[in-house]
Amino acid sequence: MAKVKRAYFCSDCGYETPKWLGKCPACGAWNTITEHIVAKESSSVASRVVSVPKAEPLKVQDIKEGTTQRIDIGNKEVNRVLGGGLVPGSLILLGGEPGIGKSTLSLQIALTDNSLKTLYVSGEESAEQIKMRANRIGIHNEECTVFTETLLENIMAQIEETRPDVVIIDSIQTMSTDLVESSPGSVTQIRECAATLLKVAKSNGIAIFIIGHITKEGSIAGPKILEHIVDVVLQFEGDGNHTYRILRGLKNRFGATYEIGVFEMRDNGLKEVDNPSEILLTHYDEPLAGCAVGAAVDGLRPYLIEVQALVSNAAYGTPQRSTTGFDQRRMNMLLAVLEKRVGMKMFQKDVFLNFAGGFKIADTGMDLAVVAAIISSYYDRALMEGVCCAGEIGLSGEVRPAPRTEQRISEAARLGFKRIVVSSFAQKGIKPAKGIEVVYISRIEELPKALF
Ligand code: TYD
Ligand code: MG
Repeated sequence: MAKVKRAYFCSDCGYETPKWLGKCPACGAWNTITEHIVAKESSSVASRVVSVPKAEPLKVQDIKEGTTQRIDIGNKEVNRVLGGGLVPGSLILLGGEPGIGKSTLSLQIALTDNSLKTLYVSGEESAEQIKMRANRIGIHNEECTVFTETLLENIMAQIEETRPDVVIIDSIQTMSTDLVESSPGSVTQIRECAATLLKVAKSNGIAIFIIGHITKEGSIAGPKILEHIVDVVLQFEGDGNHTYRILRGLKNRFGATYEIGVFEMRDNGLKEVDNPSEILLTHYDEPLAGCAVGAAVDGLRPYLIEVQALVSNAAYGTPQRSTTGFDQRRMNMLLAVLEKRVGMKMFQKDVFLNFAGGFKIADTGMDLAVVAAIISSYYDRALMEGVCCAGEIGLSGEVRPAPRTEQRISEAARLGFKRIVVSSFAQKGIKPAKGIEVVYISRIEELPKALF
């Protein structure tokens, strides 16, 4: 009988240990270490499926600079997040919660007619289901092959036969290889499959997209343990109830990671959104109390977004506080600053806060806009027309500059805003912008005067 090798893995972070432990030393989780059979034989699948030429050590100056031709994959937003196109031979992990649209996006990439040979491997849906989805998307690529298979060895054979430029594996949790005994989705299967795919990608110059599900907590053995193996990690996020989705680059060996792509989920698939500001701003006939506009930056991309606040008298002793898309603790802090520095009686008020489009905002540069909306609702007065804000608020009520303030100002100017309120500490090094009045403030007390 072949010798069986056993190892223990943490199901949360993939940490490997030779013996069982109660607590994972890497991520600190309890009771997550489980036993797995690693391989029946000593050689891993990866080394058996493809042979890689032996590498030679080289002096840095002797290394020939590769002329990496980036492939335009026919989707502007995806190209942008990839850093200007797809690099042949790269391994890309596309993670996201179930139902967010990973299969839709990747099928769209496979179907885009750009003279690329694509192979879409699905272990989750039948060929008919994929056909139905393709009909909804409504684009057609003669060179797209659909393969419903979960056994890695068969997929390898198919890649060998069709020689595609781009392969999509939907999803890594459903794939398995014969040489590892554990069930699909286990840490060992995922690792072994990904290692094999990596070698295939590198040795044949095929770009491979691996789809991986993550749960709400962002854990689950799977995508997390692959992050260090792959070249690019993309995360697809968004609120399932809203139509907008953000594709975020978390890691990119070939470009900047701070890029985001914005999509809208429609009946016929995901539509690229060139200009996020236009969908995140509502055009009212007359200004409303409790509405403010913030100039945000996500990654490298500036956009303007509307924030709405409702401040009303508290019916109970403990006032209610609720936010959508914004950190509630941060709002409580801002309310405390308003109470102490501006003298607004927030302790008797219920406060509700909402960002447009179901966007989640982690940008502290939105503090000023949040406070502006709260002040507007508190006094029940609309802000002056065409005003927006960008700045962070500190505990002492000081207004700090938001990162990339200049970019925010020019985006606001581009969209026809008349005035933007920013921190006076940002004044240095900012070129005067055309067509917009920039109001510099250094303390939160000065905000109301700049807004009304
Ligand atoms: P899907 O790509 O299956 O998600 P994932 O692979 O990440 O689990 O997308 C699922 C959702 O997208 C589903 O609720 C239906 C919706 N959808 C549309 O709204 N329009 C479309 O054209 C398509 C194909 C899907
Ligand atoms: Mg899917």
